[in-house]
Amino acid sequence: MTEVSALIGGTGIYALGGMEYRDETIHTPYGQVIVQRTDSLIFLNRHAPNHTIPPHKVNYRANIKALQILGVKRICATFAVGSINTDFELSVPIILSDFIDYSSSREHSFFDTLENGVGHIDISTPFCPVLSKALKTEAKSLNLKVRNGGVYASTNGPRFETPAEIKAYRLMGADVVGMTLCPELPLALELGMSYAGLAFSINWGAGMTPSIELLHSGVDQIKDKMLRTMINALQNTKDADCTPATIL
Ligand code: HPA
Repeated sequence: MTEVSALIGGTGIYALGGMEYRDETIHTPYGQVIVQRTDSLIFLNRHAPNHTIPPHKVNYRANIKALQILGVKRICATFAVGSINTDFELSVPIILSDFIDYSSSREHSFFDTLENGVGHIDISTPFCPVLSKALKTEAKSLNLKVRNGGVYASTNGPRFETPAEIKAYRLMGADVVGMTLCPELPLALELGMSYAGLAFSINWGAGMTPSIELLHSGVDQIKDKMLRTMINALQNTKDADCTPATIL
């Protein structure tokens, strides 16, 4: 049977450019989800066409459940972020290695009904090492400069942070800040999937420059290579290479 993997596109990455696909609507207990699909690849546009869904309104559970229904075992996702570590230059994709979750009031677990039972994922390895390594290899072969490793502070949004929040997140070990990694990643792990993340920074965190300026053009220049890097990473590894999180 063909393995089916998924790409989740964040801000700036809204479609599977240059590939034949069909739109498909998936019905889940949490709501319906529209995906683009080829035989072995699903593309999910996190913010919907025309970027109409803000980070705090994304139906993360429906999205991840839809991917499970389609047989997806592995996900590569993209994120627009702000850099809060001065070493993390803008527009250079970052292969994420860990996160701190500051989000709140989001449906963040499937283990919340009698039917689904009680479960606690061991998230000691949040990002799949095999997929993350493949992202590094494939980026290199496409001549795409990437940064290997970075800690994502996941905030609630939709507002940006205060300068004091940015200083606090940095002190706590974060390198970049964004609004969508959580609960998407933990939900995927709860359903036995493996997950890798490629973030790209479009601004410096609040207080690091006089005001926040978003540099979207940097992403436009590299998004085709980012998509190709993720597709190649998924194609050149297998479901069996990745170890799903343990549920305790
Ligand atoms: N903060 C939070 N989310 C973001 C930022 C930021 O500075 N930039 C892009 N997404």
